[in-house]
Amino acid sequence: MNTAVKRILISKRKLKNINKRLGRQITKDYKDKNLLIVCILKSSAVFVSDLLRNIKCDCKVDYISVSSYNGTKPTGNIEFKKDIDINPEGYDILLIDDIIDTGNTLKYVKEILLEKNPFSIRICCLLDKPYGRKADINADYIGKIIPDEYVIGYGLDYDEKYRNLPFIGILSDEQERR
Ligand code: IMP
Ligand code: MG
Repeated sequence: MNTAVKRILISKRKLKNINKRLGRQITKDYKDKNLLIVCILKSSAVFVSDLLRNIKCDCKVDYISVSSYNGTKPTGNIEFKKDIDINPEGYDILLIDDIIDTGNTLKYVKEILLEKNPFSIRICCLLDKPYGRKADINADYIGKIIPDEYVIGYGLDYDEKYRNLPFIGILSDEQERR
């Protein structure tokens, strides 16, 4: 196993099952709606690519990019990098992120999207760290609630590394001190 990983929290097999369950729920809820999936780059990219193949209703997909972390600490400052290309007016947006921690990122992105007059917005996150919450926001679809530890893999990075690990692991203490 990679030395940056203290232990595996969610295995490849469990991730597959989470994606199947979320895909089924989303398909059922959006089959008669006008679904526009908006993914928050970069860290949700791996999750979204697997989840998308479990969503069996018509949808469009777009990407928005923001960044907020420095090492393992949220900076509190969110930098806007790329807007969506599709006009979401009249669409039912499903906003997808890898993890909700303080909630500041999702609150910021949701407000940007609400200004564009979509019909509705819901949120789907692979992971939820409820103990870190600062903003008044929650996800409607959650893959798994996890403890307040810094996790890497399956798209989630530490200093832009480890996104390619095929599982979710807890970052080793040694890495975190660097
Ligand atoms: P929030 O704004 O604090 O809710 O954090 C949202 C963003 O911070 C997520 O989209 C992640 O990219 C990143 N993040 C939060 N916690 C972790 C973690 O444990 N590992 C890697 N990235 C994280
Ligand atoms: Mg992210």
